Amino acid sequence: MIVLPSKESIVKAASIIKSGGLVAFPTETVYGLGANAFSDDACRAIFKVKGRPSFNPLIVHISSMSELGTVAAIPHSTSIERRISLLASLWPGPLSMILPKSPKISSVVTAGLTTVAVRVPDHPIALALIRAAGLPIAAPSANPFTGISPTTAQHVEDGIGEHSPFILDGGPCRVGLESTIVSVLEPKVRILRPGGVTLEQLISLLGEDEVDLSPQPPGFSSFPASSPVIAPGMLEQHYAPRTPLAFRSDIPANKLPAKVGLLSFREPSLEEHLPAFTSIYVLSNEGDLEEAAANLFAALRNLDRQDLDLILVDTFPNDGLGLAIMDRLRRACHS
Ligand code: TXA
Ligand code: MG
Repeated sequence: MIVLPSKESIVKAASIIKSGGLVAFPTETVYGLGANAFSDDACRAIFKVKGRPSFNPLIVHISSMSELGTVAAIPHSTSIERRISLLASLWPGPLSMILPKSPKISSVVTAGLTTVAVRVPDHPIALALIRAAGLPIAAPSANPFTGISPTTAQHVEDGIGEHSPFILDGGPCRVGLESTIVSVLEPKVRILRPGGVTLEQLISLLGEDEVDLSPQPPGFSSFPASSPVIAPGMLEQHYAPRTPLAFRSDIPANKLPAKVGLLSFREPSLEEHLPAFTSIYVLSNEGDLEEAAANLFAALRNLDRQDLDLILVDTFPNDGLGLAIMDRLRRACHS
């Protein structure tokens, strides 16, 4: 059920969370499917609805930094505390920090790990829901496992509607890519999943010496190489449309199948030689990475509905949101 946000609908959604139910809600990144992060049973229901393997942990959403102590056990180390408070200056925002878990957080949420991923989402409806429930809310993206993350309420309905979730409609998500996940407990801050907060933002906040810049293999940029146990969410096949997807640079024009859709970063120039594409979806006329990111998942869904033999995608620049866009596209190509 898609419900417009109002005082009443937030109160209703909060009462569903408090009584152990699930609510889909908007954040600035993607829509989440939320449950009481203290309740094993409520969180188990999330895994069931998504068809998500139980070894893949969830992100816990709080409404302000002052609630951090209820979900995480902050280490007594001046340098780590300083690092956490610097990173928390990006909250509310698309950044999830991996911290030692508080015993109160359900081990279903953390898939048995000793750490928990935490963020403060930058969306008034998400914040109002967390406050009204008076609980931290564990929420993955509100899509079936390995599918494309939802950036509108209708996407949620299309993906998991058969489970009749209560869906708060906040319109299209502003960022359109999931949060950046960082591990803060290692000698340097390490990006486990590139996302809405860019590497450049992290470097300018913390300084280059504090951020792990070691290259990750393509397609696995967020795979925590040192520990397969925390690899879970970084599964290779993810964000995948049903239609095969390939980078434009990888397939010669004379090898293309009959019905090809093009997902273009910017408006193709008139001189550009375009094979007979069945459809072309332009992510940003001016080639703006933020606009392209915000449109990316809806565009993939749109092309996926067109009964194409192949979706060809552009390669994106290796900076700013380009890193997160390329990460999602590489994973989508593996299907
Ligand atoms: O923007 C977002 O992050 C959205 C919105 C709803 O907040 N959520 C989201 O959740 O993308 P999900 O479940 O689709 O992705 C969560 C990722 C998974 O890749 C999971 O493995 C990782 O977070 N994760 C969660 N807890 C972790 C932990 N303790 N250590 C390492 N990775 C963790
Ligand atoms: Mg997801």
